[in-house]
Amino acid sequence: MMLSLDVRLQRPLLLSRCICIFWLESNSKMAHLLSTSFSVKISSSNRPRGQTLNQVRAVLPNSFTIKTSKSHFKRLVSKGDRARKSCVVLATAVPVSKEVSANPRYGSDGSPSDSSKPQRVMVIGGDGYCGWATALHLSNKGYEVAIVDSLVRRLMDHQLGLDSLTPISSIHNRLRCWKAITGKTIELYIGDVCDFEFLSDTFNSFEPDAVVHFGEQRSAPYSMIDRSRAVFTQKNNVIGTLNVLFAIKEFREQCHLVKLGTMGEYGTPNIDIEEGYITITHNGRTDTLPYPKQASSFYHLSKVHDSNNIAFTCKAWGIRATDLNQGVVYGVKTDETSMHEQLCNRLDYDGVFGTALNRFCVQAAVGHPLTVYGKGGQTRGYLDIRDTVQCVELAIANPANPGEFRVFNQFTEQFSVNELAALVTKAGKKLGLDVQTISVPNPRVEAEEHYYNAKHTKLIELGLKPHLLSDSLLDSLLNFAIEFKDRVDTKQIMPSVSWKKIGVKPQTMSAN
Ligand SMILES: NC(=O)c1ccc[n+]([C@@H]2O[C@H](COP(=O)([O-])OP(=O)(O)OC[C@H]3O[C@@H](n4cnc5c(N)ncnc54)[C@H](O)[C@@H]3O)[C@@H](O)[C@H]2O)c1
Repeated sequence: MMLSLDVRLQRPLLLSRCICIFWLESNSKMAHLLSTSFSVKISSSNRPRGQTLNQVRAVLPNSFTIKTSKSHFKRLVSKGDRARKSCVVLATAVPVSKEVSANPRYGSDGSPSDSSKPQRVMVIGGDGYCGWATALHLSNKGYEVAIVDSLVRRLMDHQLGLDSLTPISSIHNRLRCWKAITGKTIELYIGDVCDFEFLSDTFNSFEPDAVVHFGEQRSAPYSMIDRSRAVFTQKNNVIGTLNVLFAIKEFREQCHLVKLGTMGEYGTPNIDIEEGYITITHNGRTDTLPYPKQASSFYHLSKVHDSNNIAFTCKAWGIRATDLNQGVVYGVKTDETSMHEQLCNRLDYDGVFGTALNRFCVQAAVGHPLTVYGKGGQTRGYLDIRDTVQCVELAIANPANPGEFRVFNQFTEQFSVNELAALVTKAGKKLGLDVQTISVPNPRVEAEEHYYNAKHTKLIELGLKPHLLSDSLLDSLLNFAIEFKDRVDTKQIMPSVSWKKIGVKPQTMSAN
């Protein structure tokens, strides 16, 4: 159900095509995340003549008031049976910039069409850790960028009582700051990609040449809290990706999908891990097949389902896709996020969203012993966040062919947890920190000592210049953690989610 509202711009419009669309609707899927919701839609009489809702744009620095009557609001909330779930804020700034990009757009036959126009890249999940750094990097490199994000991650933090080590600005302030510093515009669409109506509007409005899909629930522990978070994770991730595939098929069939997968899809087999495919000879016959997947959480399983759905649609519909099986990302600064404090990226250190090396640096900074789970022989691929943005750009600049499902293992080095603890201990000593390590009972179900050798040559072949983990990077990460150590809530450091104790009942994460 839609409700027309009076939307007034408080400042004079800078462009003739200025207007905003708001539309928030109830979302039964997110019942445990959202307590209330409502629907707001600009009436057609507010629209500039001759333009569809998707064509109308607003200048970001303008603010606006929305008037609604309580009775309308109540009526809308009580009629929750039609569970539509979008929250669209289409807030697009000023005319698009005209930087020349070397990257091709595609014609209807899939060949490059107009190389003088920069590629248009939609970054889904662009308010998150990897997505924010990537959106800025691509914008800086001359791509036309739009961020699509439901902001659900900020909501999950609030609900679990967690916070980034670094203070992060609202997405609106981030984008205003970026515009003020660089003159570059990043468009913003706030909404849930599980809502196909929202996604369709977004696709038709922005017309992407490439979609980078970071927009998923990305924590294995979060997916193992309880039944409702497990269900949320799989619905959010699998349906979101399915919708993106359908949107490409319906509206932008030459659009290249760059999807963030994870090295965790492969598990820890006792043989080398290949990049996506393995050639097997069995009973005298040989075939090249998808590499076996052995995911070890409901989150990792959602990624496996995604990969299968993408591979299938590449075959069936001729979609061009790159699955980036990313390792664990560390670090916080990139060239762009360092330009201003309002552009600062998030850094998670807690037991739910924090990842190994980032967590260890924060633990060392506050004098908490490094928390090695079990024997600490768990080995994974890692990469610097500066390489995440580089890899994504390389994938976009060298797109997969129509119908090709390309898989890259996106990491630069392998470490065991014990090796990371030793590196942080050594770097901490240089800074005068007394770093201790403890072994805590492993909350996960995983091998604690195992063979691990994963291939990762394809991105190097495309030109990746890795930032390997160095003393100077550890120094800088530790100093960063020391700078913000007063923001650390030490109660959030220990693991609080157990793979074996997962149950049906909702758990409160930070009651104490
Ligand atoms: N951070 C890592 O170490 C790491 C490692 C391997 C893979 N990855 C993958 O990279 C991607 C990004 O990870 P991150 O660390 O930046 O996570 P993040 O939680 O910081 O960011 C994810 C963003 O996606 C948004 N989002 C989630 N569901 C959405 C939906 N349905 N519609 C619209 N927006 C939605 C969130 O609001 C958030 O801003 C994830 O897919 C993750 O699985 C991350």
